[in-house]
Amino acid sequence: MIRINENYLKLPGSYLFAEIARRVTAFKEQNPAADVIRLGIGDVTLPLPPVVIDAMHKAVDEMAKAETFHGYGPEQGYNFLIQKIAQHDYAPLGIQLGEDEIFVSDGSKSDTGNFQEIFGTDIRVAMTDPVYPVYIDTNVMAGRTGALGQDGRYANITYIPCHAGNHFIPELPKEKVDLIYLCFPNNPTGTTLTKGELKKWVDYARANKTVILFDAAYEAYIQEKDIPHSIYEIEGAKEVAVEFRTFSKNAGFTGNRCAFTVVPKTVMGYTAGGEAYSLNKLWNRRHTTKFNGVPYIVQKGAEAVYTDEGRKQTRAMIDYYMANAKTIREGLQNVGLQVYGGVNAPYIWLKTPNNMDSWAFFDKLLHEAHIVGTPGVGFGPSGQGYFRLTAFGKAENTAEAIQRIQTRLKV
Ligand code: MLT
Repeated sequence: MIRINENYLKLPGSYLFAEIARRVTAFKEQNPAADVIRLGIGDVTLPLPPVVIDAMHKAVDEMAKAETFHGYGPEQGYNFLIQKIAQHDYAPLGIQLGEDEIFVSDGSKSDTGNFQEIFGTDIRVAMTDPVYPVYIDTNVMAGRTGALGQDGRYANITYIPCHAGNHFIPELPKEKVDLIYLCFPNNPTGTTLTKGELKKWVDYARANKTVILFDAAYEAYIQEKDIPHSIYEIEGAKEVAVEFRTFSKNAGFTGNRCAFTVVPKTVMGYTAGGEAYSLNKLWNRRHTTKFNGVPYIVQKGAEAVYTDEGRKQTRAMIDYYMANAKTIREGLQNVGLQVYGGVNAPYIWLKTPNNMDSWAFFDKLLHEAHIVGTPGVGFGPSGQGYFRLTAFGKAENTAEAIQRIQTRLKV
């Protein structure tokens, strides 16, 4: 009789976005004529930029000839891409990274989910609440938490509530924690931290030998000044922070899978006896053992993002989505809803009318306006009474969705 990992039994039956898909499918079956607009999962809708397509076509042709064919590549990614990342994403911010501090991967979902593997199971983990469910669910699977309580919280996790009352700015934990997940611009609230606010976290981490896992998936959406694009803009962050970035959101790679994780050699973890080990070495060991590299064709596509043309074309995509964000924000404000985010991020976080439960509002929006969004409580207990809409839809659908909310929703 094989034993299962019983930690999995602590999890809700399905992953948030799978549960949403299930409800939408059921609704579509009952209402086949309904024209459902999906502003739920943060998936892009614009096609890949032409410069990326060209580069990928060329790479496909290379794969057709023995002289230019590529088999397994380096697990950490090809140097041609790593160098571009270092030169274009970091050097202009005054951040120097070694080539062996950047790990190309198939996504920030996998990397933020997997990174916890290199830490002990008895560490204390903190996360902001609401939060991208991958961070919490993977810690549950690893056995770092107790059971899920009536209050929607797992035991042994430090939750840091972020809500309108504190302007979505997380407060430092009162107790000492070992690992902190931060995502800014934030998914799901679409809010940001200034450099000064982020510095408090870096200072805390340095003082407590805490590691920060910083998810910067949405950095390309930052419009305002004084919002850090990278945690390494903060002095000392290279001692304590790992940063995750992706081509999914800035260049439309959700269906292509390409991302990267920065693990500076100066970030340390410790044995029970207090001996320091570089996380870079451990992550390299894990990555090379469990991952065989992103396809050459995809990495060639990602490299093209850094050409002049690539920058222009991806900037145009971001502008397109941010125009949607404005449409959503202003459209909701016009009907008197309270909205947050959507200024430096492709997510709009709204307070449900009359303090309605998040899932009740999900059903209402689906049934009355045929719009799919994401219930805030799906991201954690502090998301209760909130709801997320994404700006990643088509512009015409986004405008139509807002019009439906204004005219069909019985608030
Ligand atoms: C979301 O909707 O939160 C995104 O799809 C997250 C992701 O990129 O996995």
